[in-house]
Amino acid sequence: MEFREVVEQRRSLRSFAPMEVSEALIRDLAGVAGLAPSCSNKQPWRFVFVRSVEMLQRLVATLAPGNAAWAKQASLVVAVWSQADLDCRTPDGRDYYQFDTGMASAFLMLAATEKHLTGHPIAGFDPEAARQVLALPAGARVITLIIMGGHTHEISPALAAWQIKAETERPARMRFEDFATIV
Ligand SMILES: Cc1cc2nc3c(=O)[nH]c(=O)nc-3n(C[C@H](O)[C@H](O)[C@H](O)COP(=O)(O)O)c2cc1C
Repeated sequence: MEFREVVEQRRSLRSFAPMEVSEALIRDLAGVAGLAPSCSNKQPWRFVFVRSVEMLQRLVATLAPGNAAWAKQASLVVAVWSQADLDCRTPDGRDYYQFDTGMASAFLMLAATEKHLTGHPIAGFDPEAARQVLALPAGARVITLIIMGGHTHEISPALAAWQIKAETERPARMRFEDFATIV
């Protein structure tokens, strides 16, 4: 796929087909994510690739019910975490760990799209509960969980009406004038 097509194909879908989660796939996705830029090349992103049925169930239990309903069909959940001291803090107090980790996560989701997989990031989960399930250090911030599965046109029966609509229609985007200026 051409770059532009990958970007346009990426969607936060909620209907998943089963997918094989090999170590080669995981290393490939992580390899692309790891090429993201970061402040002073600190590479603050950390990923836990959760594929065992037991761990998937324990992690899905930390999700908001509206997310758990569809996410329980996922074959892989990528827990994305970081902490402030893994990245730059500028002398005037600007922290960059969430920004840099977000960029790496975007790279990972685009790499998944290129492989005809869906990677759906969520904020609707309990980060402290997720941190405990994953046995992460006390200071770790679980920033997002990327819910992953194979792409399918078969709509999950777990979806509400607005979610079914979003499976086929990309949620609207702002116009250029609403988010960009040229000076
Ligand atoms: C930080 C972040 C948090 C999100 N949290 C949720 C969530 O909790 N549940 C959900 O269904 N979608 C969640 N999404 C997905 C967005 O709703 C989705 O990206 C947006 O509607 C645009 O749709 P698209 O990604 O298909 O283009 C989240 C996305 C991001 C980036």
